[in-house]
Amino acid sequence: MKNVTLLQMEHPRPKLFDFHGVSMTNHYTDNWDNVQNFKARPDDIVIATYPKAGTTWVSYILDLLYFGQMSPERQTSIPIHERVPFLEINNPSLSTGIDLAEKLPTSPRLIKTHLPVQLVPKSFWQQNCRIVYVARNAKDNVVSYFHFGHMSMLQPEPGDWSSFLQRFMEGKMVFGPWYDHVTGWWEKKQTHSKIHYMFYEDLTEDTGREIDRLCSFLGLSPSAEEKETVIRGVQFDNMKKNKMTNYSTVPTMDLKVSPFMRKGKVGDWKNHFTVAQSEQFDEDYKKKMKNPTLYFRTEV
Ligand code: A3P
Repeated sequence: MKNVTLLQMEHPRPKLFDFHGVSMTNHYTDNWDNVQNFKARPDDIVIATYPKAGTTWVSYILDLLYFGQMSPERQTSIPIHERVPFLEINNPSLSTGIDLAEKLPTSPRLIKTHLPVQLVPKSFWQQNCRIVYVARNAKDNVVSYFHFGHMSMLQPEPGDWSSFLQRFMEGKMVFGPWYDHVTGWWEKKQTHSKIHYMFYEDLTEDTGREIDRLCSFLGLSPSAEEKETVIRGVQFDNMKKNKMTNYSTVPTMDLKVSPFMRKGKVGDWKNHFTVAQSEQFDEDYKKKMKNPTLYFRTEV
């Protein structure tokens, strides 16, 4: 029999269900009225992603760009999930994302969401907030999601790799199909100038260049020294060591099963997909991803 840890007993795995046409679990729908009625402010900045696309990385980049010069205590005592609240989450062990967002003392407020574009609370559009969307190639994204499924008790039981991959292709994942998520946001960006769409692969290739692009979108002009400090702070190894960014303070994650800062690479999918799985995935991908302007790199 499988060893069941105390953490697993305390947090029975949630079940997926259909919610407005998207697979969800109760942790992201329990607080739905408050999420939908959230009052955005014009200077709020939203970080939107499909889970495991580099949300924490970009959250920390933005946090350091805006607030890196604030008191050193902030850097050593406030974990990233409190600095950048996860809007729709209702984690039974922590404050809700809405509570954290409403209590944020900073301006601008940095707010994270995994919602597909059609479910984003309307006041973010009404207030014309800036939105940074981060996307990651599907193959690395599903691998990262698989490991996360094992270490996060808020995720449904992930099962084995091949069944997880099959369900990813069917869109039976929390926050729905990756394909619809990245495409929906991409299409929204074509008509909405306040969306900055970025790719995990580009960030890996040249973090400094991507920070420059972000700054130009946000209207920020950090000094060369400030920029260097941000680049250093957000390096994978530094974020992995940093208790404020490695999620070691979150009680529903078991870092012994898999660290949150796991590999941080482009191309780790090659260590997981068999040749047959990769071929089947690519065939199916072509059928689902019809927009030729949205292109992902699976290696850098
Ligand atoms: P891996 O599981 O492939 O390592 P999210 O924050 O959206 O949940 O994404 C988590 C993924 O981003 C994990 O991917 C994690 O290691 C990676 N990541 C986080 N910070 C990173 C960084 N500074 N550099 C590269 N990858 C990073």
